[in-house]
Amino acid sequence: LVVILDFGSQYTHLIARRLREVNVYCELLAYDTPAATIKSLAPKGIVLSGGPSSVYTADAPHLDVGILDLGIPILGICYGLQELAHHLPGGSVVAGEKKEFGHAAATLVPPGSTSAPPSALFEGFPSTFTAWMSHGDKLASLPDGFEVLASTANTEHAAVGDAARRFYGLQFHPEVTHSDHGTALLRNWTRNVCGCAGDWTMADFVEEAVAHIRARVGDGIVIGAVSGGVDSTVAAVLLQKAIGTQFRAFLVDNGLLRKNEVSEVVARLHDKCGVALTTIEGADTFLARLDGVVEPEKKRKIIGNTFIDLFDAEASKVDAAFLLQGTLYPDVIESVSHKGPSATIKTHHNVGGLPAHMKLQLIEPLRFLFKDEVRALGLVLGVEKASVGRHPFPGPGLAIRILGAVTPQRLSVLRDADAIYIEELRAAGLYDAIGQAFAVLLPVKAVGVMGDCRTYEEVIALRAVETSDFMTANWFDLPTPLLRRVSTRIVNEVRGINRVTYDITSKPPGTIEWL
Ligand code: XMP
Repeated sequence: LVVILDFGSQYTHLIARRLREVNVYCELLAYDTPAATIKSLAPKGIVLSGGPSSVYTADAPHLDVGILDLGIPILGICYGLQELAHHLPGGSVVAGEKKEFGHAAATLVPPGSTSAPPSALFEGFPSTFTAWMSHGDKLASLPDGFEVLASTANTEHAAVGDAARRFYGLQFHPEVTHSDHGTALLRNWTRNVCGCAGDWTMADFVEEAVAHIRARVGDGIVIGAVSGGVDSTVAAVLLQKAIGTQFRAFLVDNGLLRKNEVSEVVARLHDKCGVALTTIEGADTFLARLDGVVEPEKKRKIIGNTFIDLFDAEASKVDAAFLLQGTLYPDVIESVSHKGPSATIKTHHNVGGLPAHMKLQLIEPLRFLFKDEVRALGLVLGVEKASVGRHPFPGPGLAIRILGAVTPQRLSVLRDADAIYIEELRAAGLYDAIGQAFAVLLPVKAVGVMGDCRTYEEVIALRAVETSDFMTANWFDLPTPLLRRVSTRIVNEVRGINRVTYDITSKPPGTIEWL
């Protein structure tokens, strides 16, 4: 176990992620966790995270200094380093004349120089590497016993350490991918300094999560909405494993799902994984409320509210104390980092806005995981590969892929076209290389000719993007023969479509969805 004391950096959870990547189990604790608590956990190492404060101000967050006497290795990152220097004799921190943000070339202090021996931390490193800096303060003097291990042009104390006490500090952020070899550095620290075996895996995560959920829930009932998406599926299977039928899942069939999607989700979760799943039949209600609605945000609002109405009505019949949410770490960062007014491009609805009268406590077992980790977790839990690798599908479903009015007939057309497209992408082995792909039904009719007859029918747009975070995306360069095949099949097989286009707009300026 490695403990991370969180001083509020936006990168703290990235430290946790990197430690998991090097197969070390870690827990995040509040910065002021008492030394006695930490001692009782017997961690092999303690990371002090970065944070937005300055150690010398009156309201700065501080660790329990008893931690410095536990004999446990400590790695201070950015604010964490400054915290070490602030509390250890000889060290001091001042505001730097220049703030330093972004890439900096860090040079290892040459082995054999008077200032430092080669450090266990930098095993395998080149003598110069890129370090990602984000700080305003800097050390004015090193604590007694510390040596400089690496420097940048602006920061003499880029990496420092006291090998005897096993205290190290980094002014840069090894946890962000902009720092070269950051993961290697953390691996070196866990192996060479802390003596971690590095044999923790996702299977251990399952065990820990199951124990944690059982302890929290007791004999209470947990409810949750599942959509068939990766997050809610993995969360549901985890809950089923932890508490069996004390977990009740609901699938709201809003009539806006893709071809065969409802039956596939039921087969996957209920039939294969034993999740107690109730399908709420809502198609008629949703479609009635969407009748004639064209404006995208109005569609979203109606769908979000209808979802809550139906879920609430059904879930209220269960005497539940907890609500499962498949929140991932990026959702957590997004919701805390977006302070201040920011333009709403689209409102993304999920179960966030449940009525207060339900008085449910949240269970968020995926809260510290990133998407790829959730996928890995899903595989460990036995969720099939095709399901954990599924592209995201928006909560409002096909309603935001139908431009113009949503009708049963137009839904059916879009479902068929989309199914052909996805089937062909899978057959071509391209599905997993694409971030998101789908068909869109446009609100126009076009003229065509089929079998000597004039046609006047609707148009399908195909979309495929590659993206790492869905915040930005590039349109995907699909092979022409594939496009030709999909186009031919859609026009031949889907009644009501006589034209297929391919969307070559990236995000920005486009968004991924058309609405
Ligand atoms: P955009 O279209 O904003 O999409 O570039 C980014 C990602 O978000 C998904 N998306 C939604 N997801 N409710 C959701 O749950 C929504 O209303 C919604 N709108 C867009 C979109 O599919 C893409 O993955």
